[in-house]
Amino acid sequence: MHLSSPTPFPANRPRRLRRDAFTRNLVREHRLSAHDFIYPVFVHEGENRREAVPSMPGVERLSLDLLLPVAAECVQLGIPYLALFPAIDAALKTPDGKEALNPDGLIPRVVRRLKAEYPQLGVMTDVALDPYTSHGQDGVLDETGYIINDDTVEILVGQALAHAAAGVDMVAPSDMMDGRIGAIRDALEAHGHIHTRIMAYSAKYASSFYGPFRDAVGTRGALGKADKNVYQMDPANTDEALREVALDLAEGADMVMVKPGMPYLDVVRRVKDEFKVPTFAYQVSGEYAMLKAAAANGWLDHDAVMLEALLAFKRAGADGILTYFARDAARLLQK
Ligand code: PBG
Repeated sequence: MHLSSPTPFPANRPRRLRRDAFTRNLVREHRLSAHDFIYPVFVHEGENRREAVPSMPGVERLSLDLLLPVAAECVQLGIPYLALFPAIDAALKTPDGKEALNPDGLIPRVVRRLKAEYPQLGVMTDVALDPYTSHGQDGVLDETGYIINDDTVEILVGQALAHAAAGVDMVAPSDMMDGRIGAIRDALEAHGHIHTRIMAYSAKYASSFYGPFRDAVGTRGALGKADKNVYQMDPANTDEALREVALDLAEGADMVMVKPGMPYLDVVRRVKDEFKVPTFAYQVSGEYAMLKAAAANGWLDHDAVMLEALLAFKRAGADGILTYFARDAARLLQK
């Protein structure tokens, strides 16, 4: 008993609500479900072709025929959306990334087939030039190597239109050029694609956590020591994230995203509180790689940290999460 206490007993015993599983279940504030997930997948040309991505254990580049059963499983698990990322043949990469505009390129073909086979599964595509450029940057360069904003936006508009024509449900510009959301929205409207949703990578930081992704799409080598600091955001800033979100919403974004995820949960919370719009977070390749590596060493419990990390996004205010764990987590939640 504490002498200064007004009663001999604690006035509150928060542990009452934690004493048994049924009470914890009752008072739980946030829950994960398969509907929270967007599953990023890597596609490449060919048939019956699968390649492991060593820095992302459990992730593979798949040819379209091998992606179809993955899509079927996502439908069965209740995962609402796939996010497609292409690994483009080196021979098709150019300084201007013009393969991105090919209406019969890899991504439009994959979109058409997925929507034909699984109309009930959402398909989202990345709008950015990095998988298509020989230098691995998300846009076109001037003679000094600076990424030219407005010329890049013009190409991105063409890329978004090619995806929309193929029937994509949602485009997600991940390039961080100024004004691209407005330009893409205008073009979609002008071409009658009034239902195509835009999820803007609004607060996308120049992060070192993207390394394994660059292995997966084959841009790490081309980029070399170059960085993306002249267009992606400075990890030191958060007010700037709010300005970016405000611009993208004003330009016509339906949803916004913060990326990376776990190191940026403060940004997710600020965005959600300020704008109260559908807000997503991307648990990026490096976050996935860290958890996989620690689990492989036996240092962390794979399933437990996976679910805890994903739940943290919900607690921070995210409406959903792009995560390479989507299938693993949804399988576990289904049990
Ligand atoms: C490129 C793009 C990147 C990611 C998604 N789209 C990498 C980059 O900006 O270099 C990263 C995803 C991840 O790391 O999982 N437009």
